[in-house]
Amino acid sequence: DHRDLHSFPTRRSSDLPATAQLPSFTLPLTPAAFLREYWQKRPLFMPGAASGLDQPDANTLAGLALEESVEARVITGAGNGPWSVLQSPLDDNVFETLGEKNWTLLVQSVDHFLTETSLLLDDFAFLPNWRVEDIMISYAAKGGSVGPHFDRYDVFLIQASGSRRWQIGDVCDESSPRQATDELKLLAQMPVREEFIAQPGDVLYLPPGVAHHGVAEDSDCITWSVGFRAPDYQMLMAEIAGECLAESDSKLFTDPDRGITTDPSILADTDRQQLVRGALDLLHPEAIERAIYRWLSTPRLEGLEFAVDEHHIRERDSDVSLVRHGSVRLLMQGKLAWLNGEAHTLTEQQQPLVQLLASKRRYQKRELDAVMTPTARELLHEWIEQGYFSPL
Ligand code: SIN
Ligand code: CO
Repeated sequence: DHRDLHSFPTRRSSDLPATAQLPSFTLPLTPAAFLREYWQKRPLFMPGAASGLDQPDANTLAGLALEESVEARVITGAGNGPWSVLQSPLDDNVFETLGEKNWTLLVQSVDHFLTETSLLLDDFAFLPNWRVEDIMISYAAKGGSVGPHFDRYDVFLIQASGSRRWQIGDVCDESSPRQATDELKLLAQMPVREEFIAQPGDVLYLPPGVAHHGVAEDSDCITWSVGFRAPDYQMLMAEIAGECLAESDSKLFTDPDRGITTDPSILADTDRQQLVRGALDLLHPEAIERAIYRWLSTPRLEGLEFAVDEHHIRERDSDVSLVRHGSVRLLMQGKLAWLNGEAHTLTEQQQPLVQLLASKRRYQKRELDAVMTPTARELLHEWIEQGYFSPL
């Protein structure tokens, strides 16, 4: 059965020495095998594949959820419901009203706000950076869950603290029957095919469409969701149209060589072809590419909120001398570097540095020294001043 969940035993985080670590994830099989057998195909449970997930803790998450710029939700419910959802902005005293059971707090894009959280993403380099959407983190009281559902995107669900019972169902789609609570899009039924108890460090990969239901087995259940993005072609087309139109002038249909009209009721072939050609001529290949790079390098949220917690990172990795702010996206297009939706033309002397900066999120002094030139240093200073990178 291709839907069988396989499991690869690795070292549990609790076996590791108690020294503070940065978040990390290691595939327990080769990237080639993962991509071939599981990616976009079937679930995989990976016990003990992650570690260093002690921060953010429950209090930090709760504080983050109350910040104005942070997208958060509180979902209350269990079993056959009823379910309810509170969307941010959340009330300051929301957590006092929730009781001890059956609720979940979900905080979106924690990587964007907490640079130390974003560093986990370096361990997903077996997939291209642009494919990553964000890291959502949930905190649940005992019995808390978001209900049985499926997502349209790939996700790695990483247990950070407490334990969660994951039930896995069948592959679903838009036609799968839903419960009446339309806001949550919960499945009306979910036959359970597999079941796992995720403990700290355990990771569950789910491809798009697979039904799942994760219930907190105890209070203080924290789960990270590394979510992937799959560009929607309708939205991409809109981006392309926008980019192409932004650089073209208004040009009207003309017909100085028009011949005799034999039938005024129809659109003649030649007229139709000229209209199609005129419209499609606005699609310049360079503008199409620009639209793609701009879109893929634009962060989910604007702004570089929250300074990098340098102490936290240095304490956990003494080798690191520079980090990329969690909300920075950097994508290379040959000599161009796309940083948060803006293209930077690089000199030859700047290219090795920016290549390094785009390849990961934290950098050692000797790596930086090896690619430093006077103009590279200038660019890096500029980007440090703008908050995109932080020296430690
Ligand atoms: C959760 O963290 O509680 C929900 C994650 C998911 O099921 O997608
Ligand atoms: Co889900």
